[in-house]
Amino acid sequence: MCSGMSIKSKSFYTIILLTISVFMSIIPLAGLSHADEKKEVEDPKKKELQELMKKIDTHYKEAQERMGYYNLSESDWDTYVKAGEVISKLSDRVRKEFAPPDDEEYLKLTKEMKKHADDIHKSASERYLGAYEDIQYSFGRLRNSCKNCHNHLGIQIYSELYPGEAPPE
Ligand code: HEC
Repeated sequence: MCSGMSIKSKSFYTIILLTISVFMSIIPLAGLSHADEKKEVEDPKKKELQELMKKIDTHYKEAQERMGYYNLSESDWDTYVKAGEVISKLSDRVRKEFAPPDDEEYLKLTKEMKKHADDIHKSASERYLGAYEDIQYSFGRLRNSCKNCHNHLGIQIYSELYPGEAPPE
């Protein structure tokens, strides 16, 4: 009776070991085919838009970093001038080259992005009394246009791109 038990438990362990070794050989394979899949989806147009968005994001973040100061330096003003100018130009490219056909909302949001970027550029260039308040106002509107378009398309920038970082709102 005792030896019967040990045969049973032997085959039990054999099954466990087999199961483990089967899994060990499947896991790396699964990882590989996943990577291949990712490569396939990567189309050049998508990549181009990502690069463009990254540029927009760089200037957006530079402007954001200089928000909330009371004494703006010459280079702070220049940061806003440049951010407004670059984001405005890139908004045109997003609208002309990347808008999905018949997506009115997308077109509207690229135009909004451009308008707020133009406003930032204008206020920062002219530096009239109250220009900085206007820049802050326009920056808030600009941020909304980013958020609205990403929401519209179901893109979650912050959780994927900047893990742990709070969304810009
Ligand atoms: C009209 C729509 C639209 C507007 C407005 C918009 N985006 Fe995007 N954004 C997209 C799309 C579409 C993608 C996804 C590109 C992809 O991965 O295919 C994206 C992706 C991004 C990414 C990720 C890029 C990457 O590396 O994958 C960042 C960062 C980003 N946007 C920042 C911004 C900022 C900052 C603004 C506002 C100043 C903004 N976006 C405004 C449509 C928009």
